[in-house]
Amino acid sequence: MRPIVLLRGVVVLLVSFVAFYIASKLMTREVEVNHKKYIQESKAKKISCDMETSCPEGHFPFKITSGAANVVGPSICFNGKILMSTIQNNVGKGINIALVNATTGELLKTDYFDMWSGKVELLVNFLKTIKPGSILLLASFDDPATKMNDEARGLFSQLGSSLIFNLHFRDNWVFLGAKPIKENSPFEQGSSLLQILKNDKKKNKYDGWPEALEIGGCVPKKKD
Ligand SMILES: *[C@@H]1O[C@H](CO)[C@@H](O)[C@H](O)[C@H]1NC(C)=O
Repeated sequence: MRPIVLLRGVVVLLVSFVAFYIASKLMTREVEVNHKKYIQESKAKKISCDMETSCPEGHFPFKITSGAANVVGPSICFNGKILMSTIQNNVGKGINIALVNATTGELLKTDYFDMWSGKVELLVNFLKTIKPGSILLLASFDDPATKMNDEARGLFSQLGSSLIFNLHFRDNWVFLGAKPIKENSPFEQGSSLLQILKNDKKKNKYDGWPEALEIGGCVPKKKD
């Protein structure tokens, strides 16, 4: 009797160990596979400012790529130069913004705002100090919305964003907006572009995030 009980105990223990071992192996494999996928895709997508189509006279070419999940950083290209990227070490999780002079194309400022655990007041103050005659280029990374408040949404909307009111947790967001100064400024009639890919669990390419977004095109220079 006793040896049988003992034997049963040993078998149960062994089976549990084997099951646990297999389960943990499988789980780490899955994580590794996912991680590999991110890395491969980030390498495949070369960061480049080359524009496929050249822009007409009096226009600046640009390309904005959002981050991919919480792994691959965003990039912002303007007029043939990379203004923000992981390589330049000036991007962060949340909302990344580059401001350029709409007349000269000169870079004025870059900054990023942590929208998960940062202070939204920093973003609000930044948006409030944008000078007329500026173009704003924006790329999200990871989560652009958790700390977003009505004041910040209102300021983005004044810069030409129409979908800002639909921006939610972990949505991807790329946007080119402008602060107009004259009635007939070319930025007034929606020379801003905006696209949001919803964070939809069923359609997401990565487990918790939608895939990276990219917009590019030609934005008219401001003429005095
Ligand atoms: C852009 O550059 C022009 C020419 O240097 C200057 O007059 C203007 O104030 C600048 N605008 C901004 C928003 O920096």
